[in-house]
Amino acid sequence: MAGSKPQIKKGRYLITTPIYYVNDKPHIGHSRPTIAADILSRFHRIAGDETFFLTGTDEHGSKVAEAAERAGISPQEFCDKNSQRFKEVWEKLNISYDYFVRTTDDRHVQAVRKILEILYKTKDEKGQNIIYPGEYTGLYCVGCEKFITEKDLVNGLCPNHLKPPQRVVEKNYFFRLSSYLPQLEKLITEDKIRILPEEKKKETLGLFKQELEDFSISREKVTWGITLPFDSTQKTYVWVDALQNYISAIGYGDNPDEFKKWWAEGEVIHILGKDILKFHNIYWPAMLLALGEKTPDVLFIHGFFTVNGQKMGKSLGNVINPNDIVKEYGIDALRYFLLREIPPTEDGDFTYEKFEKRYNSDLAGGLGNLVARVITLATKVKGLKQNAIFEKEINKTKEDYRKTFEEFRFNETLIIIWNLISFCDEYIEKEKPWQESKKQEEIIGNLLSAINEIAKLLEPFLPETSEKIFNQLKTKKSESLFPRI
Ligand code: MSP
Repeated sequence: MAGSKPQIKKGRYLITTPIYYVNDKPHIGHSRPTIAADILSRFHRIAGDETFFLTGTDEHGSKVAEAAERAGISPQEFCDKNSQRFKEVWEKLNISYDYFVRTTDDRHVQAVRKILEILYKTKDEKGQNIIYPGEYTGLYCVGCEKFITEKDLVNGLCPNHLKPPQRVVEKNYFFRLSSYLPQLEKLITEDKIRILPEEKKKETLGLFKQELEDFSISREKVTWGITLPFDSTQKTYVWVDALQNYISAIGYGDNPDEFKKWWAEGEVIHILGKDILKFHNIYWPAMLLALGEKTPDVLFIHGFFTVNGQKMGKSLGNVINPNDIVKEYGIDALRYFLLREIPPTEDGDFTYEKFEKRYNSDLAGGLGNLVARVITLATKVKGLKQNAIFEKEINKTKEDYRKTFEEFRFNETLIIIWNLISFCDEYIEKEKPWQESKKQEEIIGNLLSAINEIAKLLEPFLPETSEKIFNQLKTKKSESLFPRI
């Protein structure tokens, strides 16, 4: 329409983390997908996009039931207690989730039953039932909550949990995965389901060349789970239950408008670790195809935090509790280290030595020192001026920031911000703004505006620090951001 303002179409994003097993206490391994999802959500909110950030806990299955028994309490009590621990730790890490789903929530349970009823009635193109009964004979790792084969074992043990698997012979219901494989392979090849990084897309496509078998959706001998709507002697397999959280939490079972808004009309981004790739990249989209729903838009796969090269986790007893670090060094120091030190797609060792080194050099040194110097200088001059000397550098920084951010290369995004910090340091060394001169007000004005930009760029990553910098810019009162250790 002539004269009317152009409509700016903003994006809409559903951003998810895996839901965490409640048998484990939260450790910094769990914070990897959660912090990534938090940064992404904050970034989109700042950009004015509609954002729904979903996280939660995975509470059914043998692993949780066994842990509750060991603790001498009922599974539900155990879940209530441990689910709360995740909420507390996310609060400590400044995680801005919009909704916390629990698989024992009645809302989730009802949605899962509804989904299973639909799948039970669904037939594939050849008229075959999608869900069919069968018998499973094989090995099961309770730690992984998955069926494994002899060739997955190392010295007879599950390589992730270093425990022998159980031999299982039971009646199960199966999902006819084979009916959806050609369609799924095409969606992944054509990036309709975009898998990042590229290497994980290749790994997923490689799975189609091996045998991808129909998978079991129920367990006969498990008692702690959602009863199948069409066979009360069976419980839903914990993974089939858990994956539905991504849609139950946004109203699949009880709020079709809300569900459509976020799922069908939003960009769906799942963030997950490499250990659960097959469930998310194959089983989950196949179930969605069977349900007649859209498949996820993006799946971002991250690597592991390790201790001496071993995946950090409860079963290996090598976990680092985020609370301990936050208490000593602050939230943003932990967020920074976890994001900066190890590229998101790779594995990397957590050590206190590396942590303190980064803290002192990048936070106390680089960022903290620059802000303190400039704010102190700002109190020494009467007026402030500015010229365009930083413009080119800031524009280039923003451009590189966006590019790396879009590909989840958060460590590189931080390097780019820190390059701007170094650029400011060099400018200070060159211009010596502590010396009285005609240019002094202009130099300090330029530095203040550069710091303002740095604080903006840091906002999704280090929200608390960013806010402190904005405050110091306003009050011109310098306070140490990261005291040296
Ligand atoms: N409950 C399932 C997920 C169901 S999603 C529908 C599960 N839970 S988990 O608690 O074991 O792991 C959750 C996430 O945390 C996974 O993405 C996993 O990769 C991640 N991490 C757990 N330990 C980790 C590290 N040591 N390092 C990085 N991430 C790790 O799997």
